[in-house]
Amino acid sequence: MTPRLLHPYTKPAKAQLRELVRANGVRLWDSDDNEYIDGLGSLWYCQVGYGNEEIIDAVSDQLRKMSTYNVFDPWTSDIAEACASRIIEVSPHTDGRVFLCCSGSESVDTAFKIARLVAQLKGEPDRQIMIRRTRGYHGVNAAGTSLQGIAPNREGWGDLIPHIIEVDPDDIESAARVFAEHGPNIAAVISEPLQGAGGVYPPTDDYLRRLRQMCTEAGALMIADEVITGFGRTGEWFASQTYDVKPDLITFAKGVSSGYQPLGGVIVSRDVCDILEADPDFVFRHGYTYSGHPAAAAAGLANINIIEREGLVERANHIGTRFTAGLEAMKGDGSISGYRGIAAIWSAQLAEGTEYAQTCAVRDRMLDLGVICRPIGDSLAFCPPLIIEDDDIDKCLDVMDQAIKES
Ligand SMILES: Cc1ncc(COP(=O)(O)O)c(C=O)c1O
Repeated sequence: MTPRLLHPYTKPAKAQLRELVRANGVRLWDSDDNEYIDGLGSLWYCQVGYGNEEIIDAVSDQLRKMSTYNVFDPWTSDIAEACASRIIEVSPHTDGRVFLCCSGSESVDTAFKIARLVAQLKGEPDRQIMIRRTRGYHGVNAAGTSLQGIAPNREGWGDLIPHIIEVDPDDIESAARVFAEHGPNIAAVISEPLQGAGGVYPPTDDYLRRLRQMCTEAGALMIADEVITGFGRTGEWFASQTYDVKPDLITFAKGVSSGYQPLGGVIVSRDVCDILEADPDFVFRHGYTYSGHPAAAAAGLANINIIEREGLVERANHIGTRFTAGLEAMKGDGSISGYRGIAAIWSAQLAEGTEYAQTCAVRDRMLDLGVICRPIGDSLAFCPPLIIEDDDIDKCLDVMDQAIKES
């Protein structure tokens, strides 16, 4: 059959892909009826697992009530407002506001534009520099591609957005030097509190706190990209809370709706809102047709209620304890050379010098044994639904151990 779907982040020439047909809880099944435990929550999301009837009902009820409409001036909707209020309630900015969109990439491009806009509104037209960290992943739209700290993802598209400076992701002195040289012209720094797609790297001690301090002193904004880390993943609603920093803008997506509908957005602090609201004639000329889409908002609202009611944020910490014990044992017996992560996001580093192709071979063997994880460089990443049970965590680790030993 001629393939008609052009797959994301896939070789277009690749012919053979595994075809999934159904999912329930933390499990998926392919068209040959092979069963997989999803150790990755699809792509770092699906906090509540698959097939949650409460979200399905909330979305279908909403589609019946008002299937779609926009929230551009002069409109708003009860469901978009309710979803925004719920996000704000669990966020570090309980007096802020939320912009809604449909993906992490849109949320990053929105935050980028807000950061530049704030400088323009404050009468600082030259404040345009954006700082990114090596290894950072910020999606695939124009700004997000330019802000990526993963070099191959920036290559091959022609010229990207100018005025972007990259800093070392672990050595905060690298950022300090850039601030010393360019401080008054820096609009914002973008940083995942814990870098996810780049390999699961928690911040080094004090990195985020010092970054916050530098932004404050220079009058720049701090953007925390919490597309992966938001909504319980690191054992608090947001990783900014886990690591005790207060960013000016927080981008989110993925876990906000557990992926049941495409939903993302930006949490905007009160200080930034004050700037946007200051001139009654100012128009925020940014927005997507589907910003605040009723079905997506209904999914987000129901999902947050479930995360709270089921105690899934606390559950993430339990998942962390279980993973740490298993990974520590594997390190002890030499199956892996190390591991990184916190709460419900982990990566296991294979033997020193492991090539990416070898990591993929281990991943493929794990798929044959019924466990999904993600190969990144010399490491295998896990980011399971927060409902995962202990036996299934153990199975993920046992299967990884077996696959490593067989490879
Ligand atoms: C930190 C971060 N930002 C942005 C994105 C882009 O999100 P999306 O794929 O929904 O556009 C991702 C996706 O993995 C991400 O991990």
